[in-house]
This record gives sequence, C-alpha cells and structure tokens, in this order.
Amino acid sequence: MKNKSLVSIHDITKDDYERILNLAEKFEANPKRKILNDFVVATLFFEPSTRTRLSFESAASRLGAKVIGFTDAATSSVKKGESLKDTILTVSNYADVIVMRHPKEGSARYASEVSPVPIINAGDGSNQHPTQCLLDLYSIRKTQKKLDNLNIAFIGDLKYGRTVHSLAIALTNYNTTFHLVSPVELKLPSAVKRYIKEKNLKYHQYTEFEEVIPNVDILYMTRIQHERFSDPVEYERVKNAYILKNKMLDKAKKNLKVMHPLPRINEITEDVDDNPKAYYFSQALNGVFVRQALLTAILGVEVKTGS
Ligand code: CP
Repeated sequence: MKNKSLVSIHDITKDDYERILNLAEKFEANPKRKILNDFVVATLFFEPSTRTRLSFESAASRLGAKVIGFTDAATSSVKKGESLKDTILTVSNYADVIVMRHPKEGSARYASEVSPVPIINAGDGSNQHPTQCLLDLYSIRKTQKKLDNLNIAFIGDLKYGRTVHSLAIALTNYNTTFHLVSPVELKLPSAVKRYIKEKNLKYHQYTEFEEVIPNVDILYMTRIQHERFSDPVEYERVKNAYILKNKMLDKAKKNLKVMHPLPRINEITEDVDDNPKAYYFSQALNGVFVRQALLTAILGVEVKTGS
C-alpha cells in the first residue's frame, strides 16, 4: 500500500485488510510509537466529522507526525472559489498524505488522480468510507474472534450510508450472511447487492428488525442520513423507523455486539449503552489503531518490534 491512495474498499485486497488489522493490533498494544516524526499529515474536511478527523489526528499525533488542515472549507480559499484540484495540488506541497472528506461522490477518486501524494478517502458523499470499513472489520474480528461465517444485520439507511456500502463489500470476502433491514425507500443499492450475489452469498431483506435480532452476531445500526434527502417530508416519514431499546436485546445471541459508525441520533436509546453488548464507543476507539496502521502502511514506514 506504500504511496497508494485509498479511495474505495475495492482498491485493496483481503490480504491488505488483514495486514492492516494485524498491524492495528500492534498499535493497540502500544499506540505511542514516534515513528512518523518526519511526516506531515493533512486533514481536509469539507463536511463535518468528529470521529474520523479526530481519530486520524490522534493517530498521526501519537506517531509523532505533524497535522495540518481545515475542519470547515469556509475558512479556506475554497470559499473564494478555489477548485478542488488547485486545493489538492497546493496542499500536496505541504503534506506527505492527505485525508479528505467531501460531500460529493467521486471527489476522492478525482483528488487521487490529480494528487502527487496519496489521498485517503474519509468519506465521499454516500459512496464509500473505506477507513471506517477497516475499523469495523477490526471490531468484528476482535469481538467475534473471526471474520468468516458470520450473520451480520445492517439496520437503517442502507441507501445513503457509505459505511454500510464499504463494509458490505468487504464482508463478501468472508462468507457472510447479510440481513438487510431498511425502509423500502432506503434499501441497499442494487450495485452492492449484485456484488453480494456474484460472490454466491445470501442476503435477506426486511422492513422490521426485531425478528432479526436473535439470529445475528452483529447488529450494525446506522442513522437515517437527513443531509442526503432532497425531500424533507420523506425524511420525516422514515426518521424514527428503527429504534433499538435495551429490552430488545434480551433474546440476542450471547456473542452479539451492537455496532454503529456514529453519530447516533435516536436509533439506539441510551439504556443500551450500559449493556455489555453495546460496542459502538469501543469501535470508535479502534479507529485510532487502524488509522495508525494505515498511515504507516501508506507512508511506507516499517513498524519494528519495540519501536
Ligand atoms: N463514523 C464517522 O464517520 O463519524 P464522523 O462523521 O464523526 O467522522
């Protein structure tokens, strides 16, 4: 992965995921390794973020790298009309790698085509979120002790949820059975379902979610993405479609974990937070270790034992 951009989960192989997850385990054991002292990481966020930006910045800082960037494009020269190409060409003079979130699908691919330094896609519209996918794989492997042969339920906005798109594609490498729960108008895009079918894997679609809970290993909750709706009335209709309450987990399998890329709005009630099955805040912590692994892999820095 040295010097390569990560735009889509399609850009990397199953072997790549596993190398990153194994490396992330080393960082979890010892996150404070000053091995990126000579590097600068730019974080360009054209769309709001808490976890992705701050976990990348935490990952880079703990490795000794300097971090530059913006959290609001309105404070940059984009506000004056500068193009994405000019912004990327300029920032690439100042940084060794660029982490970028942008509301437009395809923007990260475009940036990677014009940039002389690697681009890491931190989310492009409703398309892809490959680094979230890697931390989700890490979280599943850590809690289930395996990635193969699991029943995974995706609940909520499967149309616009980019984390679901990336993770569903990655999980087709692991003989997953998919349980897809969404309102009819927010179903998983056909392109992702086609991909599942091509791998001869099973998926089941539902509009209700209580019946799914007892049969799955992972309950991957997502928020309904109000910012992607063109019609606010449509959002109002589906915004309370799925709300997980603690009581609903009584019949869950012992090993079940509740995951959520966060932020949550109302789709998991706070009484779930104290249930040992709730894993979403630990999942967000795992993001630091996975992003440490990814930065070192892309910057081509070897992680030596004891370094
Ligand atoms: N999971 C995730 O992408 O969260 P943020 O939007 O806070 O970065």
